[in-house]
Amino acid sequence: MTQRSSIYDKASSPIIVDLGDRSYPIYIGQGELFKVDFGRYIKGKKALIVTNETIAPIYLDLVLRQIANKKIDVVILPDGERFKNLDVLNLIFTKLLENQHDRTTTLIALGGGVVGDMTGFAAASYQRGVSFVQIPTTLLAQVDSSVGGKTGVNHVLGKNMLGAFHQPNAVVIDLDTLASLPDRQFSAGMAEVIKYGLIADYPFMLWLESNIESLLNRDEAALTYAIERSCINKAKIVSADETEQGIRAILNLGHTFGHAIETSQQYKGLLHGEAVAVGTVMAAEMSVLAGHLSTSDVERIKNILTAFSLPLKPPVEMTPSEFLSLIYRDKKVLDGTLRLVLLNALGEAYITDDFSIKWLQATLDKSCQA
Ligand code: NAD
Ligand code: GLY
Repeated sequence: MTQRSSIYDKASSPIIVDLGDRSYPIYIGQGELFKVDFGRYIKGKKALIVTNETIAPIYLDLVLRQIANKKIDVVILPDGERFKNLDVLNLIFTKLLENQHDRTTTLIALGGGVVGDMTGFAAASYQRGVSFVQIPTTLLAQVDSSVGGKTGVNHVLGKNMLGAFHQPNAVVIDLDTLASLPDRQFSAGMAEVIKYGLIADYPFMLWLESNIESLLNRDEAALTYAIERSCINKAKIVSADETEQGIRAILNLGHTFGHAIETSQQYKGLLHGEAVAVGTVMAAEMSVLAGHLSTSDVERIKNILTAFSLPLKPPVEMTPSEFLSLIYRDKKVLDGTLRLVLLNALGEAYITDDFSIKWLQATLDKSCQA
């Protein structure tokens, strides 16, 4: 089970993702980039830092200084979800091959979820698999994408359709990196934080509702608590079901609808967290039709999302029929049967294929109304 461990000194005592001999620590704290001994996670002589054009000028030098005793190469990717594709992934492979990295190399993802997912996928496939370390610099990446080993890229026909499960050696979350994060990106991360309260942790949902101001002000204690609690929730679920044979799918609350929005907008419209917020409202509306949530529960969800300036409605140009065709390409469709994550109650998600298509149609019709 997930636990705190005292075997890692110096830096804060990490949360452990318990996967037997592939277990790894998540360090969370201010200044963790100075405190963590990166050398421990870079087994060979070489490493490649993967980052992007926005993050490199702010944090690259700092990370380079921490691993000055290794031969480090750097690849700087273009910034944006629309660049999370196979063509841009190839820049990582080219850099690795040009610089003769072998199977002892370690990739270091320095950035948000886009850099993290792409670096992880490159690590999963380069020479059939090398190590990697996650240094997430957005709130979303710190609470979600850097933990759990889902890696991949988008396809024009579907979000995250190409990828692999490949766990990092360590996740290093330095809260100080959030100082430069724009408000809109911070809010997008809050959508995934709120998700944990809704799917599995009602006391956390209550705490979030009572700490909106502190979080909006990025109060250090509140942020630390929110990130730690999110990572503990995620680590617990991943430890129980690494490759999503069952329970892990609840982490996708709102994602089936959200991914349809992102694909429809060709990854140039709503941010991932914003699309998840809209999808969460849609899943909640459908949970009302399934007889589990009350309309006042849905109001509470909308209120907390609104408090963080998150959208509640899909883009106006999206129609129910477009949603339907995109939704049926989701990875939760198995053998042609759509499975959805719905809520039994606030704090309790379930995954089901046992729903009336009329509820889905009614949800899409209501959500797409002006
Ligand atoms: P992102 O990686 O695009 O980062 C958002 C923006 O913030 C980018 O412009 C980035 O350059 C910038 N940025 C990053 N850190 C910064 C900092 N400290 N200061 C200033 N600017 C900074 O987006 P994201 O929200 O981090 O991640 C979204 C991606 O994560 C999506 O592709 C989504 O599919 C993926 N994701 C994956 C998982 C998983 O389990 N693997 C889970 C959730 C989301
Ligand atoms: N973000 C979904 C998962 O990690 O399973």
